[in-house]
Amino acid sequence: MSNNIKDRFKQFVAPTYGRFPLTLANGKGSYIWDTNDKQYLDFGGGIAVNCLGHSHPEIGQTLSEQSSRLIHCSNLYHFEGQSQLAENLTKRIAPGRVFFCNSGAESSEVMIKLARRSGQMEGRFEIITAENSFHGRTMAGISATGQAKVKDGFAPLLQGFSHVPFNNLEAIRSSITPSTVAVMIEGVQGESGIHPATPEYLLGLRELCNNHDLLLLWDGVQCGHFRTGSFQSFQTILSDHNSEFLPDAVGMAKSLGGGFPMGAVWISEKHAEVLCPGTHGSTFGGNPLACAVGNKILEIIDRDNLEKNANEIGNYLVDELTIIQKNHKNIIKAIRGIGLMIGIEMNAEVESFDKKIPASIQWVSALHEAGLLTIPAGNSIVRFLPALNLKHEEAQAGISLFEQTIKKLTS
Ligand SMILES: Cc1ncc(COP(=O)(O)O)c(C=O)c1O
Repeated sequence: MSNNIKDRFKQFVAPTYGRFPLTLANGKGSYIWDTNDKQYLDFGGGIAVNCLGHSHPEIGQTLSEQSSRLIHCSNLYHFEGQSQLAENLTKRIAPGRVFFCNSGAESSEVMIKLARRSGQMEGRFEIITAENSFHGRTMAGISATGQAKVKDGFAPLLQGFSHVPFNNLEAIRSSITPSTVAVMIEGVQGESGIHPATPEYLLGLRELCNNHDLLLLWDGVQCGHFRTGSFQSFQTILSDHNSEFLPDAVGMAKSLGGGFPMGAVWISEKHAEVLCPGTHGSTFGGNPLACAVGNKILEIIDRDNLEKNANEIGNYLVDELTIIQKNHKNIIKAIRGIGLMIGIEMNAEVESFDKKIPASIQWVSALHEAGLLTIPAGNSIVRFLPALNLKHEEAQAGISLFEQTIKKLTS
């Protein structure tokens, strides 16, 4: 049966993804099973999406109840769920308004359109982003992204983006021109292998943006929604700084819907009227079904204290990884963790590895064999992006599978 599925993929599904040879069938909490009933502990969370794990009963119930009342009605009308979710997200950031869309790339589009429209009267349109950033796969998303590989073959790209080294204020300062309208960053670069912004960078960036009348656009798609231990990663990064730091817009997706596809952008009150009627839209964005799930997820995260759990389990994982690193010095080169967003830079020079395939893919494949799902990044990084409700014993089990795999590959 699994081969049938893979054959159909080969014949009928566009080959944009290099897929691992796993065929997954069902999941429960942080566990998932393939079509041969092999069990995996899921530390990948569908790339930072399954914030409550798999098949959460209350999400199933919410979907079922809402779909028996109203699945979709369009954004031509008002309805309760969207108003509630907008308020729910806003009160976790600051006064402002929320635009709803369906994905992370669309949230980047919204922020880019917001910046362009706010600078239009003055002829300002340029946006500075970071090298190695990732902002999605649409034309604007790949133009904003600071990685050559996502742009290859798609010229001409959208004009008006420049890319500078991350965590380097001077690089931003020297890239500002009379046409610059915004700076766009991820609080923690995810796809590049978990690189958090420093507090000094964020505070300096806000000041620089204020001084040059630039919008500070925050891509919180991967690092948002409590993944770092606070609702947004700037709240985590600046937790010891007693600062009033706020971006001008925050993009969200992934964990926002816990697996139900949705995205959103919070826009500060100052810029809230820039995208006025007729300037942007989305047929599906924030429909009743999506918003019911989004509201339920926030209710569960609050009720079950998952913000604290993300912090505690994240710290536990990093501590345990650090012990493994001490015992296998030449295997783990670096560990970068902030809450449940952890990047482990592995040694690429493993004897049994095929030199033509990135080591990150081969480490992740070896972990699959052991029964642990993780996410590759770059040439040699393994990411842990598990559910926010990961239990201590599950974290322990994952660490043990990780260490077993290192021992097996290097003995
Ligand atoms: C920081 C960031 N922005 C945007 C995106 C694009 O999101 P989506 O795949 O939902 O379009 C991603 C996806 O990985 C991301 O990590």
